[in-house]
Amino acid sequence: MNNIRLHVNVDHIATLRSQRGTKYPDPVAAASICELSGADGITVHLREDRRHIIDRDVEILRKTISTVMNLEMAVTDEMVGIACSLGPDIVTLVPEKREEKTTEGGLDLRDSKLMDKISSAIEKMRKNGIKVSLFIDPDVDIVEISQKIGADMIELHTGDYTLSENSDEIRKQLLRLENSAFAASECGIELAAGHGLDYTNVKGILHLLNLKELNIGHSIISRAALSGLEKAVRDMIFQIRGGI
Ligand code: PXP
Repeated sequence: MNNIRLHVNVDHIATLRSQRGTKYPDPVAAASICELSGADGITVHLREDRRHIIDRDVEILRKTISTVMNLEMAVTDEMVGIACSLGPDIVTLVPEKREEKTTEGGLDLRDSKLMDKISSAIEKMRKNGIKVSLFIDPDVDIVEISQKIGADMIELHTGDYTLSENSDEIRKQLLRLENSAFAASECGIELAAGHGLDYTNVKGILHLLNLKELNIGHSIISRAALSGLEKAVRDMIFQIRGGI
């Protein structure tokens, strides 16, 4: 057995709620269930457009999460301000585009303007006792830059690996992840990974050197929708007819 921690991303519960503008399903309730089921942490992405997770969620989650709260966010003054007053355990900085369905790539740390913005954000959050992780593509030079600008941790974007369609591509993407993990270990920076991981492809990355944490959302919430469907239908029939 390994001791890789699982952080469950509950954004997808909030997406269902946004589709109808209802109060349910509540990501706060989902987070509690994940914790009761053994999750080591809860991840939420407060997007600038508040398309799924909203301010009310992160405020309540900060009070209710008893494991680790990982707040994903863009590097903006507004978000850094929210993080500093909220005090999540970890902030994961991610690139954000309004038109994307989900986070598409890692932070482009070769852009010197972005680098400066990130290092000043890291400094502010550090002063508030928040650990900072950077969501990056699995490239050795970007891992090294992350360490230089003061990140405590990196989360390797596993999207290219999970989208690989043949064994050559899988091998190529795994090699990128393996080399990046090695570089992170050499730099003494903590290692997480995530994006697109499911019940099958997750097995292929568990060997990454010093992998400490995985952030997984869509596949877990999708499985929950199907594995919980039978009970949900039975519960509705009970409401309608008082029995099956
Ligand atoms: N890590 C980061 C930085 C993400 O933005 C996301 C998606 O919100 C995830 C992990 C989880 O990805 P998935 O929902 O595909 O498991």
